Amino acid sequence: MPLSHKPEYLGLLCAPLFAVFGCPSGDFPDNSDPYRNTTDKTNGGAVYVGSGACRACHPDIDQMQTLHGHSQKLKTVQGSAPTYPGQATYAGVPQPPEGFVWNDISYVVGGYIRKARFADQDGYVITTGHSGVAAQWNLEFPANGATAGFVAYESTNASRLPYDYSCFVCHTTGPLPQDPSNPQFQENRPGMAGTWKEAGVQCEACHGPGSRHIPNPDARDLFVDTKASACGECHSRSHPSLGNADTGTMTALADGWIDNRQQWPELRASGGHSGLGCVACHEAHASANYDAGRAIRTACTDCHGDKDMGFHAGEQYVSGGHVEPLTCISCHMPFASRSATWAVVGESNGRVGDMRTHIFRINTNTVDYTGMFTADGSAVLKDSAGRAAVTVDFVCLRCHNTDDGYPFRLTLRSAAEIARGIHGFD
Ligand code: HEC
Ligand code: HEC
Ligand code: HEC
Ligand code: HEC
Ligand code: HEC
Ligand code: HEC
Ligand code: HEC
Ligand code: HEC
Repeated sequence: MPLSHKPEYLGLLCAPLFAVFGCPSGDFPDNSDPYRNTTDKTNGGAVYVGSGACRACHPDIDQMQTLHGHSQKLKTVQGSAPTYPGQATYAGVPQPPEGFVWNDISYVVGGYIRKARFADQDGYVITTGHSGVAAQWNLEFPANGATAGFVAYESTNASRLPYDYSCFVCHTTGPLPQDPSNPQFQENRPGMAGTWKEAGVQCEACHGPGSRHIPNPDARDLFVDTKASACGECHSRSHPSLGNADTGTMTALADGWIDNRQQWPELRASGGHSGLGCVACHEAHASANYDAGRAIRTACTDCHGDKDMGFHAGEQYVSGGHVEPLTCISCHMPFASRSATWAVVGESNGRVGDMRTHIFRINTNTVDYTGMFTADGSAVLKDSAGRAAVTVDFVCLRCHNTDDGYPFRLTLRSAAEIARGIHGFD
């Protein structure tokens, strides 16, 4: 990356990190912004040209982006199962819900990371309450032992669910709500009130329309926003354009899991990381699930050079088909969130959801998951400084849970006790 393109987060980070580890001094313009347009998402009134037009000049980014869930989020169906990139080991939906054929389906929503839902030809998402059949496809998830299959979706909802702007605002490029200036339905489907320009979260979803950039690239008429809030518009339970701004409350599912798509409020509740942009760690265009090597461009140890693996260096955890060489995230980003599947495992009741949390902090008190949520179980607890922490049943007992298993079993109490001093032992 040329110096003129050094992103602003490096400037922001230098301040706190300089004191601790020393920053490469002098090089980075402090808090100055290297991208030309960081304010006007319309790019001077440009129009959408589609991601195919970006490919020729940005082939490396295009290649990464093709494997990212963003580009695979909404799949057009034309009489047969949608196809996904081959490297995406768990992705794919072999058949529509029972009683339906592919010709009944207009779009598959997801099917790439954890689960899929199905829009019919009228543009409504099929529900169990309406169709009487299991209407959500869960992907295989070896870390919690889940196998692929259909499960119920909205069983108490007697209607189909419109796949309208309130859903597709986060799943498409150039989404517009239905209003007097835009009275249309996408493809004239009655369930799809409003319109989009391109299915999936493609280049122009984040960079704005590209028509003015292509004939004159050097003018850099393209919007770039490196702040966490830009990603957070979609990675939270609300979207600013839906009129319910994110408050930072992290909602929980009834049986003790953090609800999915809350990476932004989670990060803000993470204490030390609350000021980081998502792109401080993430390469914005690479898939965390299927291309982690490129997706995480700043390793934990790049910033925490003084931390070791807390006597887990070189260890590997194997459970069924799940093989996990231990790293910092094995403990600090446990599967405390849930999109589709979960398991409570072993005699110690280890907890394994299916999304890695971005809370990072570990609660080393002898409390189980109930201590992580408010008394009514509806939200994640925060302390007076606005920080949350994951309990050791999500962290240690996910692996250390069975007497005749490997690794050896820990109880809630022994796990908490060892956890307390874990970086001070070796
Ligand atoms: C004809 C070639 C070409 C095409 C097509 C093209 N770009 Fe670019 N793009 C460039 C070049 C060259 C630069 C670097 C300009 C510079 O640094 O002076 C650039 C820079 C950018 C930047 C960085 C802007 C900044 O402020 O530094 C973004 C973002 C971007 N392009 C996105 C896109 C998207 C999205 C598309 C498709 C809509 C696209 N590009 C299509 C050539 C192209
Ligand atoms: C327009 C809405 C939107 C914006 C903005 C957005 N995301 Fe996403 N993101 C999504 C959706 C929807 C998914 C789920 C994709 C799927 O399952 O196919 C997703 C999935 C992801 C994933 C997992 C995908 C994988 O392949 O592993 C990562 C990582 C991610 N987003 C990071 C980011 C970052 C970082 C930013 C900001 C630079 C960002 N997102 C901005 C909507 C968005
Ligand atoms: C989820 C939002 C998102 C999507 C989708 C996205 N970008 Fe970006 N892009 C970003 C962010 C954020 C940055 C700034 C990254 C940084 O500086 O750390 C960026 C930076 C860039 C840059 C300049 C820096 C670089 O890495 O060269 C180019 C060029 C670019 N994007 C092109 C594209 C193209 C082409 C696509 C589609 C194939 C695309 N982007 C899709 C968010 C996105
Ligand atoms: C505020 C933005 C937003 C809204 C609104 C939204 N989603 Fe999503 N959706 C996301 C993000 C981000 C993800 C991936 C991150 C995660 O699950 O933690 C996702 C994931 C999904 C997935 C799983 C995809 C996969 O490959 O595993 C499905 C299915 C889905 N959404 C369906 C819907 C439906 C149906 C609606 C409307 C009822 C909806 N979403 C509304 C942002 C949104
Ligand atoms: C870009 C730099 C950066 C990266 C990358 C980074 N951190 Fe941090 N982290 C910080 C800063 C800055 C703090 C706050 C100062 C401190 O505690 O050292 C922090 C604090 C923490 C804390 C303490 C949080 C609290 O307030 O209690 C934990 C735990 C942590 N980081 C774990 C991780 C893990 C695990 C990773 C890798 C997934 C990681 N960090 C990656 C910069 C970073
Ligand atoms: C076996 C589980 C485990 C692994 C692996 C692990 N940690 Fe930790 N880490 C913990 C626990 C538990 C705490 C809380 C300890 C406490 O509060 O005294 C902690 C605390 C921290 C803190 C905040 C406390 C402090 O001293 O500043 C940071 C930062 C951190 N770890 C970084 C890392 C990094 C970086 C890695 C990878 C090199 C890593 N950890 C690997 C369990 C682990
Ligand atoms: C301190 C570093 C760091 C920051 C900051 C960060 N992430 Fe991540 N993120 C990671 C790591 C590490 C992974 C796990 C990669 C893996 O599975 O190997 C990850 C995974 C993800 C995933 C996939 C989770 C799953 O289980 O499928 C999503 C989605 C995501 N990040 C979104 C975001 C968003 C949005 C932001 C900003 C609000 C953000 N991240 C900020 C380090 C970070
Ligand atoms: C991803 C799985 C995993 C997680 C998470 C995990 N461990 Fe381990 N742990 C292992 C494996 C594998 C070993 C090595 C095999 C063994 O000793 O049985 C191990 C070894 C240990 C050892 C023995 C170390 C030695 O030198 O003999 C202790 C003590 C321990 N873990 C405690 C913890 C605590 C406390 C936590 C939570 C803070 C934790 N572990 C989190 C998998 C895990």
